[in-house]
Amino acid sequence: MHCAVLATRATFPDIADRLRQHFDVEDNPADTIFSPEELLRRLQGKHGVMSTGSERIDAALLDACPQLRAVCNVGVGYNNVDVDACTARGVLVTNTPDVLTETTADFGFALMMAAARRIAEAEHFLRRGDWTRTGIYDMFLGSDVHGATLGILGMGRIGQAIARRGALGFGMRVIYHNRTRLAPAVEAGCRAEYVDKDTLLGQSDHLVLVLPYSQSSHHAIGAAELDRMKPTATLTNIARGGIVDDAALARALRSGRIAAAGLDVFEGEPTLRPELLALPNVVLTPHIGSASVGTRRAMASLAVDNLIAALGCGPQAGRPPSPVNPAVLQKRP
Ligand code: DGY
Repeated sequence: MHCAVLATRATFPDIADRLRQHFDVEDNPADTIFSPEELLRRLQGKHGVMSTGSERIDAALLDACPQLRAVCNVGVGYNNVDVDACTARGVLVTNTPDVLTETTADFGFALMMAAARRIAEAEHFLRRGDWTRTGIYDMFLGSDVHGATLGILGMGRIGQAIARRGALGFGMRVIYHNRTRLAPAVEAGCRAEYVDKDTLLGQSDHLVLVLPYSQSSHHAIGAAELDRMKPTATLTNIARGGIVDDAALARALRSGRIAAAGLDVFEGEPTLRPELLALPNVVLTPHIGSASVGTRRAMASLAVDNLIAALGCGPQAGRPPSPVNPAVLQKRP
């Protein structure tokens, strides 16, 4: 018997074909964002879901879909999924780590550089037709990236990849703070020095956030933290909305408390605070950190691998490549 799965968002045609070879698939070619009610309705009778950060998978949904056995999220982050609720109900959760590490690090570095060197602001100026004379001392003077101090909050795989770019490519001093300190060999590999959070805030010329979102990282950067930063510093968030208090950040950017920011993720995205949109010293992008063709393909493909292994509906059944709650597998018959 084929298992039934829901693919919540439209994916690459060949990857959707592969999904159909293994499962009875309900897909979403129009790529609409499902409301919670719509998601619940479409999940009826489904054994697995290929989900994204746009769908909230919580206890109430799981209780209304008792046949669901696997939630295979496309993304390394899975804060849209209540993992404890899944584990309690024997539902396997998977994510797509590793395949996006270098691409996301590239993007974080690019966003940090764009903020430091005022690239978006200068481009808007040019497109508006305001470039009527060359300037030497008064046109978009930014801050250097090479040789500066790069601070990283959250030192998982992506944080380490950003550290390597800073240290090896740009001669930066790299400092980081993380829940747990890295092993000495890992620190040495990315030339990063562990510091406490206050030191990180106070010494970073460019602070990049790469920590996962959870209740404990909610507003990890708020008004008090922004007050500890250098007035010349930049802040880049490629992690998750909610890690930064966006209202406090907008105030800090408007008052010159910090120099600039690069934001790929927002509280309440895709809706943004209007005050952020009005500020010149923030570079804004629509959650595209991992969005290269190769990487988004690899993420979708890994989610399909996870579904095939997780549902055990064919010869490729087995241990999924990237389980988030592997304890569920041990309990399965
Ligand atoms: C991730 O992989 O977590 C990206 O943010 C996409 O959701």
